[in-house]
Amino acid sequence: MHSYSTIQAIYSYVTKNREDGKRVGFVPTMGALHKGHLSLVQRAKKENDLVICSIFVNPTQFNEKSDLENYPSDFNRDKELLLSVDCDAVFFPSVNEMYPDEIKTEGTELGEIAVTMEGANRPGHFEGVVTIVRKLFKAVPADASYFGEKDYQQLAVIKHLVKSEQIPVKIVGCPIIREENGLAMSSRNERLSQMGKKKASLIYDQLKWIREHYFELSVSELIQAVEMSFDEHDEFNLEYLSIADENTLQPFEDRRTSNHPRAFIAVWLEGVRLIDNIGLQE
Ligand code: PAF
Repeated sequence: MHSYSTIQAIYSYVTKNREDGKRVGFVPTMGALHKGHLSLVQRAKKENDLVICSIFVNPTQFNEKSDLENYPSDFNRDKELLLSVDCDAVFFPSVNEMYPDEIKTEGTELGEIAVTMEGANRPGHFEGVVTIVRKLFKAVPADASYFGEKDYQQLAVIKHLVKSEQIPVKIVGCPIIREENGLAMSSRNERLSQMGKKKASLIYDQLKWIREHYFELSVSELIQAVEMSFDEHDEFNLEYLSIADENTLQPFEDRRTSNHPRAFIAVWLEGVRLIDNIGLQE
């Protein structure tokens, strides 16, 4: 597996391969890789001739300093994992490489999809994501780029970016990979205790419960019932639960408003913020 840490080196590698007729897939990550990331690499491997994974913990997308400081990282382990799925190259730039002048976001119009849920609860987060993803797409001009649906709203924001700035890359959304107990895989899960990981199954259980009862109860009844379940478990702190249209990302009250409903949740457990979502017509 090739390793590159400068934009110039990765850019030359990608453009040379594309000139040789190779189709290139790209998986941007912040490291602390897990099976969810590896599934993106595997999908990209199937659909392309070669695959590049980037590992960069992007400072501008953390709206809380402590979250950035506590973000797990183990580059050697990540490299081993990438080798195990036959990744062709890893791009791991320094902060100075990606932000040579100032560590700041670059203005962008994110659209209404970025205003709700994660956008409302993590001010500046999507501005940071878009800033780095735009830079990464310039450094790695791939044919297709792969993102997990766990960060469903992020995926929508990135699709919006690519469309509005006419970036020539295909964005592919990939299904959430879960632990056996249903907990959505996330780098942040590493910060949970064994007990926390067990208890966190409540999140997916509640999402499934919403899906099961979606056509029987009103949206507000569904939300109230789930809020009550979390209230009964002191260790959880529910940040938001929204039932929203998966295209507009706007929450709605009346089921008839949306043909593509999805439930979205953000919960705190043991000081760790966990997000998840589920399609309600699956
Ligand atoms: O989903 C992530 O890991 C990050 O938000 C991304 C897309 C790599 C940008 O830093």
